[in-house]
Amino acid sequence: MSRFAEPPDPVFQALNSSISFDHRLAPYDIEQSRAHVRMLAGAGIVSSDDAATIERGLEAVGAELDGGLFELRADDEDIHMAIERRLTEIVGPVGGKLHTARSRNDQVATDVVMYVRHHARTARAALHALMRTLVALAERHEDWAMPGYTHLQRAQPVYLSHHLLAYFWKFRRDHLRFGFCLAASDELPLGAGALAGVNFDTDRHELARALGFGTVAENSIDAVSNRDFVLDYLAAAATAATHLSQLGAEIVLWSSQEFGFCEVSDAFASGSSIMPQKKNPDAAELLRSKAPRVAAHLIGLHGVIHGLPLTYNKDLQEDKERLFDASDTLELTLAAATGMLEGISFQRERMASAAADEFPAATDVADLLVGRGVPFREAHGVVAGLVRHALERGKQLSEVTAEELSELAPQLDAAYYALLEEGAWLESKRSEGGTALPRVREQLERAHAALVEASA
Ligand code: ARG
Repeated sequence: MSRFAEPPDPVFQALNSSISFDHRLAPYDIEQSRAHVRMLAGAGIVSSDDAATIERGLEAVGAELDGGLFELRADDEDIHMAIERRLTEIVGPVGGKLHTARSRNDQVATDVVMYVRHHARTARAALHALMRTLVALAERHEDWAMPGYTHLQRAQPVYLSHHLLAYFWKFRRDHLRFGFCLAASDELPLGAGALAGVNFDTDRHELARALGFGTVAENSIDAVSNRDFVLDYLAAAATAATHLSQLGAEIVLWSSQEFGFCEVSDAFASGSSIMPQKKNPDAAELLRSKAPRVAAHLIGLHGVIHGLPLTYNKDLQEDKERLFDASDTLELTLAAATGMLEGISFQRERMASAAADEFPAATDVADLLVGRGVPFREAHGVVAGLVRHALERGKQLSEVTAEELSELAPQLDAAYYALLEEGAWLESKRSEGGTALPRVREQLERAHAALVEASA
């Protein structure tokens, strides 16, 4: 019997159905159903014989799904209905007992949170691999000088190791964000029923243990309406993808002939269909462009959830395609970033010569004045005058004559030339977290410690 006198309109069916995408929840759905039926037997809600039959049936359905033998029917609305339909075909009407003390509302929330937790762990492992690669690269290029930039204008020289480690810490925070996502999703929704709880004395803690959750959701209304775990995953993914886009953008710039700082391996580049000389850093370009797609999924889901009354609403079905596409995109781009960095080569000479001109020493000259009691603001102005004077005459700072110097910056003397001669403005950045080598080496030690912590 059905409550409905008419069959669904095909257009409604097409709109309402989620099976074309939520089949990806199948492994989680089978796992949760097995745990659920075992719990039902343990609590005396179904007989052990029935539970064993249902479990065997679920195993058979799982095997069909794994082997690509599962046949969908046109009226399978979603993966939950499809699995139960097939289960009942295999084991007979006893299959109908599986849905005792459960609603699709707590069931789907449980599948989705299980998916999120699995993929948050996958993202952490992939981030860890990327972080390891960055540390290894930083170690291989510890004292390679390069220009550091602000506004994409040469600003102050830094070591390549220092620049690469900047990404390490960004990805370290992404790793922490996925850790938060795991910590905040450690509550099992299953057992909430449709929204109010169920009419059976279920053992939710037993279920939580079986499905790898620390505890159970406190409130059945919250449990079936909650999708925070998807928002948390998407937020962490969007930030990580944004970091990947920055890394990709720099590799694109640095691979250009204008920069000539690096070359990606052939395995991560493509040629041109018309210009035989070209080698394009496509992987880096795609890292750059995939980020907004992931961020859009986050914004999109905020749009779906905002203003939704409690509890379950069909709108929530719209969480899945966003989540799946975000995790696919993130996992692919993290793997691509790691692979690309493993094969990258840097051009020491090009970087060094770009870092060699004297103008980045301007801050150091200003600081020399500060050491002589000139307020920094004033020193900044004096050196700006010197730089302008030198630029107008096509000179390097060290080519400014002693006479010119006494006029433009009377506080300066031979120490000025000594400073420029020494060219020590990398090693002078000795403050904690700065680019001087001893500081970079400390940083590498901390990075190693962070790697150990992140793998715990
Ligand atoms: N396909 C649905 C979804 O993704 C499953 C839950 C349906 N629940 C309901 N009460 N109609 O959200």
